Amino acid sequence: MMTISDSNLMLGYDYGAWYDGGEKKPVCTDISTSTNSHTILCGMSGSGKSKSEEAIMARIAKSEGAIFFGDFKQDDTFKYLRGCPRYYPYYQTEEALNAVYNILHRRQSGEDKSRYPITLIWDEYMANVLALLGNDKKRAESIMRKVSEILMLGRSMAVRIIISCQRPDASAFPSGSRLNYGICIVLGASIRSIYEMLLPKEYIDAIGDRNFKAGEGVALLQGSDLRFIKMPLIKNEKQLQALCIDALTREIPEGVVGEADDPHGGIVLPDVHTHKHSLDDIRV
Ligand SMILES: Nc1ncnc2c1ncn2[C@@H]1O[C@H](COP(=O)(O)OP(=O)(O)OP(=O)(O)O)[C@@H](O)[C@H]1O
Ligand SMILES: [Mg+2]
Repeated sequence: MMTISDSNLMLGYDYGAWYDGGEKKPVCTDISTSTNSHTILCGMSGSGKSKSEEAIMARIAKSEGAIFFGDFKQDDTFKYLRGCPRYYPYYQTEEALNAVYNILHRRQSGEDKSRYPITLIWDEYMANVLALLGNDKKRAESIMRKVSEILMLGRSMAVRIIISCQRPDASAFPSGSRLNYGICIVLGASIRSIYEMLLPKEYIDAIGDRNFKAGEGVALLQGSDLRFIKMPLIKNEKQLQALCIDALTREIPEGVVGEADDPHGGIVLPDVHTHKHSLDDIRV
């Protein structure tokens, strides 16, 4: 069996191998600080963005760091995360961004020399920004600026951002920032205009007549490596959820977060260590 090192994230299985020979051939990508692992997941409603995000969250949680999760839409997929210290619903997503942005800032200023991996996952980023642009333009612009800064400076500081949206329109991605994602994924039966926003023309031609269902699609890695992927739904939901809860709950090492920004805010955390051993054997 193929071994996957800790800095390799499995995105899904190779689409061709899955359908041609029924083979489960992992499609992996480097998520160490030497590679741009900022990720954008796009696709129409129901294309599998949230379920894919959930699988990615669990896999990252298994190998490294802590996760902040912004859930603008608050649909049922992530219901079980409500109550976790780093779960930020609706307009609280901005607090998640600020917490992660401050961690990046502390690293840049030299206050925090650690490179403890931090990931901000933001479901329905575009809808969130558009809603804000409609009623508080300054706030929306400040959010976009901070996201752009994380995209530009986060990699070497071990701060990564993963967002999902239906269509990555330029209005929420100033100065071409949607091209700053090292991992671009378009899921499901997509319309050409979504591909055109993220993929160079020759890659769009390579898609041909493939007919992607939910959880299947195209991944462009580092702007040059085109893969077709299939992400099966993870059967063991309990284990998946335990990992995601752990990712949003485990304590961040001292010094990573400034005192004023402590996301736990003095709340006594559930003892995540009691189920740590069982988490070690989880396969997602
Ligand atoms: N990897 C997958 N394999 C098979 N079916 C999937 C997969 N991912 C999602 N689905 C199916 O598609 C449905 C919608 O998935 P999901 O909620 O992740 O989509 P979404 O893109 O986030 O949609 P929305 O834009 O409405 O939030 C799921 O309830 C599930 O039935
Ligand atoms: Mg969704």
